[in-house]
Amino acid sequence: MEGPSWSGGGAYRGMCSAYLADLAPGDVFYGYVRVPSPPFRLPADPATPVILVGPGTGFAPLRGFLEERAATGASGPAEVFYGCRHPEHDWLYREELRAWEDAGVARVHTAFSAVPGHPFRFVQEAVAAEADRLWELLEDGAHVYVCGDGLRMAPAVRKALAAIYHDRTGGDGDRWLRALEDEGRYQQDVFA
Ligand SMILES: NC(=O)c1ccc[n+]([C@@H]2O[C@H](COP(=O)([O-])OP(=O)(O)OC[C@H]3O[C@@H](n4cnc5c(N)ncnc54)[C@H](OP(=O)(O)O)[C@@H]3O)[C@@H](O)[C@H]2O)c1
Repeated sequence: MEGPSWSGGGAYRGMCSAYLADLAPGDVFYGYVRVPSPPFRLPADPATPVILVGPGTGFAPLRGFLEERAATGASGPAEVFYGCRHPEHDWLYREELRAWEDAGVARVHTAFSAVPGHPFRFVQEAVAAEADRLWELLEDGAHVYVCGDGLRMAPAVRKALAAIYHDRTGGDGDRWLRALEDEGRYQQDVFA
């Protein structure tokens, strides 16, 4: 990563990416692969639908998922929910996400908290609005990933999903979500 420094003084060079970019073929690079605990990974079968919710910096791991799905030609549907304040100010990887949408890698649903008149302020509202589609995918075995703020956003998204279940079955949405977690079908990577 490299670009004009936000301070206005010179260029910014990302520490890791600049180091990697300066390596020559044959150089030795020391690193290790960390296995997340609890596991946080895409379903083994690329045909399995995925529901990805990651506003703000929460989009980071989901970006990796989408890159992987694009590279491997994963065939299952992917519904992405991204939220930020304003599409012109803090929409991370906007062009990449749009390109994946155009290529059919994912459908993208947005929430903008600082755009008056946008249909959704927060991602959980967009999730609720897509209830029929998400329920269809969940019945088809979809895996759900929620990344980002664990204090307010993740519980609110969880509540929206529980409501989808309750509205359609009359059952206890929390219990249903706990069962999905036990099956590894509801995974969170959140910070508090
Ligand atoms: N500890 C860590 O590991 C870690 C990792 C990454 C980031 N952070 C820090 O965490 C803070 C948040 O960063 P972020 O990028 O995740 O989010 P963010 O940029 O602060 O917010 C992303 C979007 O979520 C909205 N939002 C606010 N409350 C919400 C709610 N209750 N439910 C759903 N969406 C809500 C925000 O709207 P509003 O306009 O209303 O705010 C905004 O549109 C930053 O200060 C960041 O540096 C910490």
